[in-house]
Amino acid sequence: MTPVRVAIFASGTGSNAMALIHKAREYTRELEICFVLSDKATAPVLEKARAAGVRTHLVEKKGDRASHEQMILNLIQEYRIDWICLAGYMRLLSPSFLKQVSEWHSGASQVVNIHPSLLPAYPGVDSIARAYNDGVPLTGVSIHLVDEGMDTGLILAQESLAISKDEPLEAFTQRVHQLEHRMYTSFLEDLADGRRKTVPFMGE
Ligand code: GRF
Repeated sequence: MTPVRVAIFASGTGSNAMALIHKAREYTRELEICFVLSDKATAPVLEKARAAGVRTHLVEKKGDRASHEQMILNLIQEYRIDWICLAGYMRLLSPSFLKQVSEWHSGASQVVNIHPSLLPAYPGVDSIARAYNDGVPLTGVSIHLVDEGMDTGLILAQESLAISKDEPLEAFTQRVHQLEHRMYTSFLEDLADGRRKTVPFMGE
């Protein structure tokens, strides 16, 4: 069996990226994290991934969006990536980027994101604090396919968490992140075990 080839894109702290990297170690025959890509030179995720022995690529946006994305596409092609897992990647991917990636997989959508809210509620930034401060009873975590919108693609998995005003925001935020790590690693297990089907990279 050929291992499923995964790339992680992240712009920040990298706790989700690291959760995926650690989980992947249980599945070295079934799945490989080929690289972590960041658009931010100062993103802590780069150092953490390197320290864990994972290859990293820094692709900063110096020119226009098309040339930035082309550099990333070149990596996807070079490494023959099957799945892209966004983990705090703070850029939208363009329709043409997503179309190219999908064409390399016979039209399948194999770019996913994790987001700390019950989408479609609270897309975008500061989702945990906004839900908490609004006083809604529930929020949660969503894993979804990536389209060109902001956290708008098809939802693949969702779990909720009750918000209690007795719990400080900081502690609640930690619980949301723990749920993210559990859900994203479980998604990775589904890829490794073949419970979620992978269309392999079929480009040149
Ligand atoms: C996570 O909350 C993720 O859901 C969101 O950005 C945050 C990234 O955190 N998209 P980390 O860098 O994985 O710690």
